[in-house]
Amino acid sequence: MGSKERNHPPKVRITLLKEKHIPRMIEWRNQPEIREHQPIAQLSHDQFLNFIHSQKSPHFWKLADREYILIIEEVTGGQPVGWMTLEISSQQHGLARLGYSIGKEHWGRGYATAAVRTLLVQLFTKTAIMRIEADCSVHNPTSVRVLEKCGFRKVGIKKEYLVINGRRVDHYYYELLKKNFK
Ligand SMILES: CC(C)(COP(=O)(O)OP(=O)(O)OC[C@H]1O[C@@H](n2cnc3c(N)ncnc32)[C@H](O)[C@@H]1OP(=O)(O)O)[C@@H](O)C(=O)NCCC(=O)NCCS
Repeated sequence: MGSKERNHPPKVRITLLKEKHIPRMIEWRNQPEIREHQPIAQLSHDQFLNFIHSQKSPHFWKLADREYILIIEEVTGGQPVGWMTLEISSQQHGLARLGYSIGKEHWGRGYATAAVRTLLVQLFTKTAIMRIEADCSVHNPTSVRVLEKCGFRKVGIKKEYLVINGRRVDHYYYELLKKNFK
């Protein structure tokens, strides 16, 4: 655990993507550092608006089988620092998939770890989600660290899983079961 996080774990809150966040989302998704280890489709302002209108539930834990974009805000100043994607793969079976990114200007301060932990607590206490999966490029040790700090278990490798910047990249496949979350 890093000294910053150990001494001053940041407090974050998670909200659904709103219209006011769109300019930051577009800016972050253009950052080469954010695109280095994950495939990111750039969306226009209108495409984000359509996405927002499709996120019908005012409370993201009242979930239907679909994908949500969640904004990570630091509690003290209220500024957005990054986002997460939450895909409810199956309500019936309690399955979800998780992704996350932090604006490069906020890296290394424990925000990703705090946000993932916050979301896991909400999912495992307020929803029927029983199992969460995440994939991570084998070339992304920072993300590996975030997942393992949050209790995810490495299951295996998906060879040549995703195309990132024109090359097929191996990914680690992680899982976390509700019964193993501390
Ligand atoms: C991955 C990412 C979300 C991490 O965000 P963050 O807020 O900086 O993460 P945290 O500060 O919570 O934790 C980072 C951890 O990785 C560690 N770390 C950083 N660089 C590392 C490296 N090269 N090797 C190993 N660990 C590393 C940090 O020390 C810290 O661990 P610690 O608390 O034990 O010291 C951020 O770098 C990012 O958005 N990257 C681009 C998008 C991306 O890769 N998303 C994930 C796709 S799977």
